[in-house]
Amino acid sequence: MGGGTRTRRLIERQLSLVVFILLFLTCFVDVVLGGSSSSFTPADNYLVNCGSPNDAVVDDGRTFKSDPQFASYLSTDEDILTSITSFPNNVSLSSSASSSVLPLYLTARIFHHESMYRFPIIRPGRHWIRLHFYPLTHLSYNLSSATFTITTDDIVLLHGFSVKDSTKMVFKEYLINITSDKLTLKFSPMKNSVAFVNAIELVSAPDDLISDLASAVSPVGDFNGLNNYALEVSYRLNVGGPIVTPKNDTLSRTWLPDGQFMVFPEGAKNVAVPTDMIQYPKGGATPLIAPYWVYATADQMADSGTADPNFNLTWEMSVDPSFSYLIRLHFCDIVSKGLNELYFNVYVNGITGVSSLDLSTLTSGLAIPYYKDFVLNASAISNGTVVIQVGPTSNVQSSLPNAILNGLEVMKLSNSAGSLDGLFSSDGTYRGLKSGPTVTMKVAAGIGLALGAVALLLLLIGILRWQKRPKGYEKQKTFSSWLLPLNSSQCSFLSSKSKSTTFSSIVNSGLNLGRYFTLNELRDATKNFDEKAVVGVGGFGKVYLGELEDGTKVAIKRGNPSSSQGINEFQTEIQLLSKLRHRHLVSLIGYCDEQSEMILVYEYMAYGPLRDHLYGSTLPPLSWRQRLEICIGAARGLHYLHTGSTQGIIHRDVKTTNILLDENFVAKVSDFGLSKAGPASLDQTHVSTAVKGSFGYLDPEYFRRQQLTEKSDVYSFGVVLFEVLCARPALDPALPRDQVNLAEFAKQQNAKGCIQKIIDPIIAGTITQESLTKYVEAAEKCLAEYGVDRPSMGDVLWHLESALQLQGTASAANSADNQYAGEDDDESDGKKIKRDIEAAGKSIEETRDEMVVDVSDDSGVVVASPMFLETFQGR
Ligand SMILES: *[C@@H]1O[C@H](CO)[C@@H](O)[C@H](O)[C@H]1NC(C)=O
Ligand SMILES: *[C@@H]1O[C@H](CO)[C@@H](O)[C@H](O)[C@H]1NC(C)=O
Ligand SMILES: *[C@@H]1O[C@H](CO)[C@@H](O)[C@H](O)[C@H]1NC(C)=O
Ligand SMILES: *[C@@H]1O[C@H](CO)[C@@H](O)[C@H](O)[C@H]1NC(C)=O
Ligand SMILES: *[C@@H]1O[C@H](CO)[C@@H](O)[C@H](O)[C@H]1NC(C)=O
Ligand SMILES: *[C@@H]1O[C@H](CO)[C@@H](O)[C@H](O)[C@H]1NC(C)=O
Ligand SMILES: *[C@@H]1O[C@H](CO)[C@@H](O)[C@H](O)[C@H]1NC(C)=O
Repeated sequence: MGGGTRTRRLIERQLSLVVFILLFLTCFVDVVLGGSSSSFTPADNYLVNCGSPNDAVVDDGRTFKSDPQFASYLSTDEDILTSITSFPNNVSLSSSASSSVLPLYLTARIFHHESMYRFPIIRPGRHWIRLHFYPLTHLSYNLSSATFTITTDDIVLLHGFSVKDSTKMVFKEYLINITSDKLTLKFSPMKNSVAFVNAIELVSAPDDLISDLASAVSPVGDFNGLNNYALEVSYRLNVGGPIVTPKNDTLSRTWLPDGQFMVFPEGAKNVAVPTDMIQYPKGGATPLIAPYWVYATADQMADSGTADPNFNLTWEMSVDPSFSYLIRLHFCDIVSKGLNELYFNVYVNGITGVSSLDLSTLTSGLAIPYYKDFVLNASAISNGTVVIQVGPTSNVQSSLPNAILNGLEVMKLSNSAGSLDGLFSSDGTYRGLKSGPTVTMKVAAGIGLALGAVALLLLLIGILRWQKRPKGYEKQKTFSSWLLPLNSSQCSFLSSKSKSTTFSSIVNSGLNLGRYFTLNELRDATKNFDEKAVVGVGGFGKVYLGELEDGTKVAIKRGNPSSSQGINEFQTEIQLLSKLRHRHLVSLIGYCDEQSEMILVYEYMAYGPLRDHLYGSTLPPLSWRQRLEICIGAARGLHYLHTGSTQGIIHRDVKTTNILLDENFVAKVSDFGLSKAGPASLDQTHVSTAVKGSFGYLDPEYFRRQQLTEKSDVYSFGVVLFEVLCARPALDPALPRDQVNLAEFAKQQNAKGCIQKIIDPIIAGTITQESLTKYVEAAEKCLAEYGVDRPSMGDVLWHLESALQLQGTASAANSADNQYAGEDDDESDGKKIKRDIEAAGKSIEETRDEMVVDVSDDSGVVVASPMFLETFQGR
């Protein structure tokens, strides 16, 4: 007995010695390798191979478990469970799929109805959520058209998301803090659509991966509270090196090469050292922050040391400009021979992030990793790009001018709606204007502002019916619109809901209607509705230019208070407008319904209606390029109206007075409030012969058949295009009879090959033949007799973009109109056109965000994640 115990003790002691030695060795190895643990074992580790009956082992050794093993985590919405179709179906790709495709993308799970995974969480804290999407072909479902939303318990990951391009595998990566003991991942298909996912990863991440503190770039200072944000990885680059795959990254991250993001790659030289030279510091960077392979390669300045070495290395990445970003830069001085030789400046979007960064002093050595986090506020993202620059410090003479960057991460921060995609929060409420639009928006003044609230007009229908029908243009009526809903079955955008809703129920519905203004505020803004502040008059009342307390200019549309039946329409318009957000639509900022007033407050458009810049005023003429850009902007706005919501919205009164310009000549469509907003109650006032619109712009088919489609807008837009080209009104009764109607006249001239003759003489000499041909082709197609023969706004947009491109390349060769040339010449045609096609395909939610910040959506928000599968396979 005693002997047995002793033996056991001996064995235990020996065992503990072995353990100790092992531990010691481990530590020793760690120290040799740089002093930090280089591996991480996630407490939660769910890898789901959705839709597949089999496990899949991927290259880096991780096993994605088969779908059936997660059946117990999956639930569908209880409300729908009664229906058999509410069970999610799965679908597999036929064996004809290319064998190079990662196994994960071979199968997908399809959700017909709102469905969720509920994953138990062992250890709360930061977790990766990685989602893989590929729209597999299937007999019964078209996954390319599947549009859906994915949310966690409190974060919107994707909103109105779809993978249209069936050649791309889309990978989305999020880092979110899970605070409870379960995570719900909810898939909500849009109406008449399904949702799908090919693979899901839900994996614990080290809590110290992202610290709470960073440097704010604009304004410069400390940024506290990163822990409060959910993150989406937008870019993660191994600068100057090859792709680093999950195999070489213990957190299964992928680091892409940076080449395609470098603005002037010739100015950069790759540098690489063996990974064992990299020494992780005692505190700070660890292999979890970024693996050896990231720090062991860098870009430095090429030919540094020559006569004029003073330039920046620049990386440019497109981002959604309505979000703020966390930017993590990784540095490791693998270029210097001695300490204190390398000083350089770091800029983020042109703002100095670090001046005279001296890595060797910060890290007390060479080849020691260092990283720095910056928060770039959305307000500092001027044109949809994050620009990182490193360049030599000019005032430190002792060193050779050089600058380096080893790694770069750009992560999107969730917005105040708790969303990483759009302005809806996870409970479905819209938070678009929550954070004080008058502060965050560059609100522009709006003369011709959206006067045309259908609704308000409708309340005056009775009056209008007695009124003399206006003939041709009436400048004073810039804002007026006299369209009536013709076909109430098509006027269902707001459906019967709006009929019964009371105003307060809208206000309380969670739909954010923008700022509420008190009557006094608006009185102050307009000097008590001073007649001198009137910038437009319409049937519904007057439009005033106002200035809010903070100096923001706004256009204030005041409904005629004497009308009592307008309240519904007023509500309808607010409800409709508050849902429409786009850079090329005039924004509603707020409203006031105090003392039965019906007042809408819009952004002010400083330069007023497009028409005033074309003819009949003393304003300086627009260049051809400006005109093209304006048309493109307007086309975008209309495209968004047509495609941006499930049912689509028809503007019905497209004309040059309803296209307004802000102080940067950015075109915004106004008056869309009257679009299709036909509550059923209007049936009574519906006059069968009342095809109304603006003469000269009216779709002949609409006129004949009284059926309104988007193609009616396309027709009107065609007239606008000729109006812009020829700088004359759509109808000019003063001209000889065959010339009165611009649409007819232009078609006629074009058929005769005489279009040159009718071009605005001011620009005639500056237009290249190619650009003109493209443009006229688009305009003419728009004017096709039958709607079916007319292109969609998306196609028109594409044509106009090409016209701009064709002009752009031509003017580079022959600087005829460079005086007006925009700044976007430095991009290849193909790229731009492709990008614009992508832009044209953007869904409502993608574009909806754009109102918050005054930036160009030209900058090509990448539709898919930058990490396409192709790059994974590039190894
Ligand atoms: C769908 O998944 C189930 C298990 O979840 C599996 O038995 C079935 O074969 C799958 N169907 C297809 C078409 O892959
Ligand atoms: C699937 O939907 C996409 C996008 O809506 C469309 O372009 C494509 O033609 C559709 N494919 C089929 C087979 O219906
Ligand atoms: C996650 O959230 C909890 C609760 O808000 C907080 O205490 C914790 O610090 C957060 N963790 C991280 C890594 O952000
Ligand atoms: C990944 O790690 C292996 C050794 O584990 C190494 O041979 C390889 O070069 C690494 N790949 C990259 C891209 O760094
Ligand atoms: C480098 O970029 C910064 C910020 O954009 C700029 O201020 C600076 O002039 C640039 N330096 C050189 C040499 O171009
Ligand atoms: C960005 O700036 C705005 C206005 O200054 C501020 O309200 C917002 O919180 C900032 N966002 C971030 C992420 O810093
Ligand atoms: C965006 O800004 C960056 C730097 O400010 C500039 O290099 C780039 O050309 C701009 N892009 C566009 C489309 O204006």
